[in-house]
Amino acid sequence: MSITKESDLIGMKEVSVVVGTTLKLMREYTKIGLSTKELDEYGGAILKKFGAKSAPYETYKFPGYTCISVNSEAAHGIPSENKILKEGDLINIDVSAELNGFWSDNGGSFVIGKDINNHQPLVDASKNILHKAIINIKDGVKIADIGDLIETEAIKSGYKVIENLAGHGVGRSLHEEPENILNYRVKSNRERFKKNTTVAIETFISTKSTTAVELNDGWTLVGNKGGYVTQHEHTILITESEPIILTKSNKIWE
Ligand code: CO
Ligand code: CO
Repeated sequence: MSITKESDLIGMKEVSVVVGTTLKLMREYTKIGLSTKELDEYGGAILKKFGAKSAPYETYKFPGYTCISVNSEAAHGIPSENKILKEGDLINIDVSAELNGFWSDNGGSFVIGKDINNHQPLVDASKNILHKAIINIKDGVKIADIGDLIETEAIKSGYKVIENLAGHGVGRSLHEEPENILNYRVKSNRERFKKNTTVAIETFISTKSTTAVELNDGWTLVGNKGGYVTQHEHTILITESEPIILTKSNKIWE
């Protein structure tokens, strides 16, 4: 969305603190033996306490308050009482919500307990690439150039990117213009980032796959060639210099 008045900025800051804090608390609550359903209900209760509504539920009738994807699941994992978290699992939590008509989105991947499956390098690559992408975004920068930066950095680290998942405009709804902030360069895309707009920037860094495909449950996405995918996401406000990270309360970079 385009921020045109002080109340817009306040609204975006408020909902971003809510989703950022919820993600941080859910991450801290995550432990071995917990089901992803219990983790989701914990997150849902926090959103409720803030007076916020789950964006995936409100927008798409997603069967959960948050998306929790474990191991081979790349995104949109459905919280389930049958999914019990284990040592060394790779988990991604994505929290998006609406508060007072404003929407914000953030997410992060991490390893549960000891990194016995050596997922940490993939997690670190995703985290670092998101940081590098965001500090390079300002008014007038081409969306395609940021896509290229993300893919180039992924390849440098020995990984690939998922080509059909993307960042997006956010603010007055969960997904708005620009609709596809992809993790690679689309040569025909001449769109540029504009100051005073809010966007969600998200990485999809992968060990083997380049496309996310939907499972029969109608939600869960997995890689077309298997392997693992990590995602980190912040909602930001674009300026003439470095962006303002609206969801920094999630502490995914710390
Ligand atoms: Co998200
Ligand atoms: Co998003």
